[in-house]
Amino acid sequence: MVCLGNICRSPLAEGILKSKTDSDKVFVDSAGTAGYHIGNNPDKRSIAVANKYGIDISGQRCRKFSYSDFAQFDIIYAMDLNNYHDIIAMTNDKNEIEKVKLLLAEVSTSLTEVPDPYYGGEDGFEKVYKLIDQACSLIAKKLS
Ligand code: 4NP
Repeated sequence: MVCLGNICRSPLAEGILKSKTDSDKVFVDSAGTAGYHIGNNPDKRSIAVANKYGIDISGQRCRKFSYSDFAQFDIIYAMDLNNYHDIIAMTNDKNEIEKVKLLLAEVSTSLTEVPDPYYGGEDGFEKVYKLIDQACSLIAKKLS
């Protein structure tokens, strides 16, 4: 699960997909395309909205997406088109390109991107939570 900062959207996506899958079968992680917040915990607003739905993401630590992730992961979900293009720009072959997907391509919604909630209010985090939750329900079903 990849966004820009790895403190708002992708930590939620990591926590939500983990809550819907068996950790013995599916390894879920998140990262950011930027390194502004490396080592930090998720944004307080993401921690709060996750808590509201019974998911604890407070122990997560921000890391930057790296080329080695193409070898480690089968599927790489980008939260928005900027993240998607930044990840695609790091690929070296067709196999790596095929691993990269937009998260909301999994859901039938008119939105193609999970909006960046960083500069907005709490309601943005609620909206983002619901979008990611819908996508993760369908992903979990596919993986089971
Ligand atoms: P995220 O949100 O990509 O969902 O983690 C952001 C977090 C931090 C910044 C931008 C977006 N920032 O500019 O620091």
